[in-house]
Amino acid sequence: MFTTVAQLRSFVHAQRLSGKRIGLVPTMGALHDGHLSLVKLANEQCDVTVVSIFVNPTQFGPNEDFFRYPRTLENDLRLLETVGSPAVFVPDAKEMYPANFGTSVHVDGVTEPFEGAIRPGHFDGVATVVLKLFLVSQADVAFFGQKDYQQLCVIKKMVADLNFPIEIVVGKTIRESDGLAMSSRNRYLSEMERRRAVVLSQSLAEAENMIATENVRSAETIRQMIQDRILSMGGMTIDYIAVVDPVTLQELTTIETAAVILLAVRLGSTRLIDNVAIPL
Ligand code: PAJ
Repeated sequence: MFTTVAQLRSFVHAQRLSGKRIGLVPTMGALHDGHLSLVKLANEQCDVTVVSIFVNPTQFGPNEDFFRYPRTLENDLRLLETVGSPAVFVPDAKEMYPANFGTSVHVDGVTEPFEGAIRPGHFDGVATVVLKLFLVSQADVAFFGQKDYQQLCVIKKMVADLNFPIEIVVGKTIRESDGLAMSSRNRYLSEMERRRAVVLSQSLAEAENMIATENVRSAETIRQMIQDRILSMGGMTIDYIAVVDPVTLQELTTIETAAVILLAVRLGSTRLIDNVAIPL
């Protein structure tokens, strides 16, 4: 386990000198099978896998869950042993953001709607920490989950805009047996909320079905169906439901080419997001 940038740099420097292909899996810990699936992908595609565990303060708003975000390092390290004991980078906040740190990475456009509108500054924090992790790990490939679809778009745009020499590989969303997308935040849910939360993946699956087998093409029809199902479950407020272009995240009115359906809801004090890609 490495806790300083200098340690990680000297490790990856030696690996690169011997021609190893390095894969990076950035995480905030509280690892679950979604994270582990990315580690397995990295193991398959790279010689050396580096997993970072860092609850990044700059991507949390002042009223968000930074202080209560689950920190389960011992368990995380045990789980990582089950997937080949990758190199683990666990910096503290001072290591990533020394006193007088004053740089921020801002990506335009795709950061503005949805999560960006509800969580101002969130994607600046994500882009800044991810770019730092790319730089200190010198990875050839980095692995991100489709689960955080807008984050993925932000990172792809940053990499393209900056000509950053790294390949971005996307891992599919890993779900609980009832369909709920795995998330470190699921542990905040009460039993009742956990039962209700299944409506997110169920309504997305229903949307997929309406588009594929019933030939529904109206984004508004799909949006309305998802909204009705979520509201009829009760106990949830909807932050957004949107049918968007997979690259620009512009909202679509008709589903004629590939699309992604994004949603975010609140159950009590917990925010959950999910999405489904429609490959037309
Ligand atoms: P975190 O929420 O810990 O997620 C780390 C990675 O795991 C992300 O790429 C995320 O999309 C992926 N992931 C989460 N749940 C998943 C699931 N159910 N199936 C597949 N992949 C899943 O996302 C972050 O951390 C941070 O914003 C980070 C990129 C590390 C920057 O701080």
